[in-house]
Amino acid sequence: MESPTADFRAQHDAIAVVDFGGQYAHLIATKVRRLGVLAEIRQPEDPIDAFRGYRGIILSGSPSLSSHGEDSDYTKAVFDLDVPILGLCFGHQEIAKHYGGEVIHGGREWGHADLHIVREHPLFAGLGPSEQVWMSHFDSVAAVGPGFEELGYTTSQNGAPDHRFAAIGSDEHRRYGFQYHAEVDDTTHGDVMLGNFVLGICGAKPTWSMEAFLAEERKKLRERVGDESVFLLASGGVDSTVAAVMLKEALGPARVHLLHIDNGLMRKDESRNVVEMFGRLGLGDRLHFVDASDDFLRALEGLTEPEAKRKVIGTTFIDVFNREAEALGIQGHLLGQGTIYPDTVETGGTKRADTIKTHHNRVQVIEEMIAHGKVVEPLADLYKVEVRELGERLGIAPEALWRHPFPGPGLGVRCLCSDGTPDTAGLERLVPEVAEAANAFSLQALVLPIRSVGVKADLRAYEHPVLLSGEAEWGTLLRTASTITANVLGINRCVWNLAPGHPGSARPVKGYMTRDRLDILREADHLVMEGLRRHGMYDDIWQCPTVLVPLALGEEGGETIVLRPVFSARAMTATPVRLPDALLDEIRASILALPGVTGLALDITSKPPGTIEWE
Ligand code: XMP
Repeated sequence: MESPTADFRAQHDAIAVVDFGGQYAHLIATKVRRLGVLAEIRQPEDPIDAFRGYRGIILSGSPSLSSHGEDSDYTKAVFDLDVPILGLCFGHQEIAKHYGGEVIHGGREWGHADLHIVREHPLFAGLGPSEQVWMSHFDSVAAVGPGFEELGYTTSQNGAPDHRFAAIGSDEHRRYGFQYHAEVDDTTHGDVMLGNFVLGICGAKPTWSMEAFLAEERKKLRERVGDESVFLLASGGVDSTVAAVMLKEALGPARVHLLHIDNGLMRKDESRNVVEMFGRLGLGDRLHFVDASDDFLRALEGLTEPEAKRKVIGTTFIDVFNREAEALGIQGHLLGQGTIYPDTVETGGTKRADTIKTHHNRVQVIEEMIAHGKVVEPLADLYKVEVRELGERLGIAPEALWRHPFPGPGLGVRCLCSDGTPDTAGLERLVPEVAEAANAFSLQALVLPIRSVGVKADLRAYEHPVLLSGEAEWGTLLRTASTITANVLGINRCVWNLAPGHPGSARPVKGYMTRDRLDILREADHLVMEGLRRHGMYDDIWQCPTVLVPLALGEEGGETIVLRPVFSARAMTATPVRLPDALLDEIRASILALPGVTGLALDITSKPPGTIEWE
């Protein structure tokens, strides 16, 4: 997808997306293709000739700080090209700087903000005077240079002061910048703004289509695999299921073998359901099933650190894969995976992206196999929404396509582990700051002595969650969470206490990846899924991880369950879901009755700064 053949390219107007390593760089390319215009990813240090022939250029965001001059060693000659350029976040700051403006380390924002458009401009054609946009940045533009003007500023939804220069532009230079991410779905009319740039200002003709892309991908797959066969890791999730059907279509069933591994980290009855589903897809006789739960649990024994757990799970997959391939006498086959684009970018798999978390299909041993040409990943450039669209075209039943995503490491990333030592680093500073912020909304707060993974301004954030207790409107709860995570550095998540009262204290309890704990989590997850279905909510939401946290709230012993229902379209951003009171009552009663579970909370953090999963 990133390097279509020369003749394919010659037939289409194209936009170059310069990937500075931001979490959403590839998403920009996807959004441009959705407009019907071919988009190609380019590296910032590519020679200037690589940027010629495009109708326009978009500079992505980055984990680097423009204010500190980081990552400034790129092909600046792009600014001399006579085509329009749009910068997003880091790209916006680089444009401001290049043309004599000022970028400062400050004015950070996460999440939703309101953009106020200063004057009518073709970039905002068809839009109202203010628009909801999505922010994730530490740096900001403090002044623009000659020929540039402010096109928009933002007011944040959590009461912080106005942020100037959220949109800038120079019609003379044909250079524009948005501090916000127009490419994410949370910028309500981001697609219109990108369309105004690509189709309007750049004048690109929309001639590209999904059909053309699909035909190209099939051809590439046949060329790539040649006479070989593929042994695909098939979890039964949307991605690997679509990959299985696509491989079967492109190569013929005889050259596709599927391996479903029960790693002991699956949902209740999951493996049985998956085997049945592949039967219905006509792939039953291509599927090999193995219960390897003992291997995984042995390998995970005693581990508590999230990245260590993820890496062990990924490596054990390959150990089992090799063992089973040998047993079946097919060890020469290529490894097939349903990897999609976010797996790569979150693992830091593009050149500059920070490692937010290591996805199971991106551990070292797999990277080495990729380097040796031993891995086939037909969906590696796609997002889930495109995978589902592809699945529909391939005739896969909606029940299989619209299941909630389930991470490769399964309950492994939802069963947090601890040796019982409180993680109190920095807590002294955090506690009064958090208490003050929560009091302003009449809520009580407790900074939890554990950490979870999040993402802030394209960087991994492994920080403390806050438990909020008290009664409040949903909107107030969300505002409290966004205020705390935006203003208190060191906090990336807020959860709302669903158990009675305010616990006043919290301490970690010893808990490892054992069958007993996993069984409790499996049951809790099952109760939540059943509840969502009963209340007709399953299809409305993207996902609802249930997380077992080895944390005793208050004086009682026991552990805590956290629910994480989110709305999302691509999992790169997400917003928390309000569950109906009746459902919360049912869940409260059933989950607090599970053995050893004494705490229950609802995650009310958007992504960023909290990732969907906790590890
Ligand atoms: P996060 O937690 O990064 O998750 O917001 C984004 C989406 O990816 C899923 N996820 C994974 N999927 N292997 C996967 O196949 C993984 O290692 C993994 N980690 C997270 C997560 O469930 C969500 O849908």
